[in-house]
This record gives sequence, structure tokens and C-alpha cells, in this order.
Amino acid sequence: KCNLSGWWQNDLGSKMNLSTADSHGNFSGVYYTSVSSAQKPIEPSPLSGSQHLDEDECTFGFIVNWKFSDSIATFVGQCFSGDNGDEVLKTSWLLREKSNSLSSDWKATRIGNNTFTRV
Ligand code: BTN
Repeated sequence: KCNLSGWWQNDLGSKMNLSTADSHGNFSGVYYTSVSSAQKPIEPSPLSGSQHLDEDECTFGFIVNWKFSDSIATFVGQCFSGDNGDEVLKTSWLLREKSNSLSSDWKATRIGNNTFTRV
């Protein structure tokens, strides 16, 4: 079935290590981002996620709570098996930064895509 556990690296060079999912499909992990918009030095940051268990090419989502930044990121994605059997995670993310005022809320959310392969 759909096994997300282990080490993954994305197109930016960020890495993450995911645990085995429990019977509900919930998993945890640690995210090592290669890039940051924060002022402080990058630190490994915990993530919490959930996946469908009943599909081979499953959908999943997770939240990263950055330890060095007051931002939060959410990722959603799907696992695919390529022609050569290599697994690929296609994801989209939202990165919410902390606004100092209601009037700057409009510019607080970034959106993007990342592709992960096994390290
Ligand atoms: C921050 O900049 O406040 C925290 C780090 C955010 C890293 C982002 S999350 C989406 C994108 N994909 C990555 O692997 N890193 C960046």
C-alpha cells in the first residue's frame, strides 16, 4: 500500500523524515528546510500529518510548525509510482507568516509546489 515513511528530498533540497503511519493514517516527522524567509538560523522542525491508508497512490497532508520562525506551513499531496517504480510525492503548500497588523494580512500567505523523491 502507500508507505510514506523514511527520508525524502524535494526540488529545493529540503529534506524530511516521516514516521510509519498509525492505524488511523496519522504520522509525524521532522522537516529540514533548505530555504527560509525568516531572520533566524534554520532549525529542524516537527511535522504532523495524515494519509489515506486504503489506496496505493494515496493522498496526504501535513503541517510544519517552524521552530525558528513564527510561520506555519501546510502541505497536501499525493504519492505516485513512476514507470521505473520510483516513488514521487507531488505536493502543494501554503506558508502563513505572522502579520503585525490586520492591514497586512493580505500579503501573509505564500503558495507553491514541491516534488519529493526518496533520498
Ligand atoms: C519561514 O520561512 O518562515 C520558514 C521556512 C519555510 C520554508 C518553506 S515551506 C515551503 C517551501 N518548501 C520548502 O521545502 N521550504 C519552503
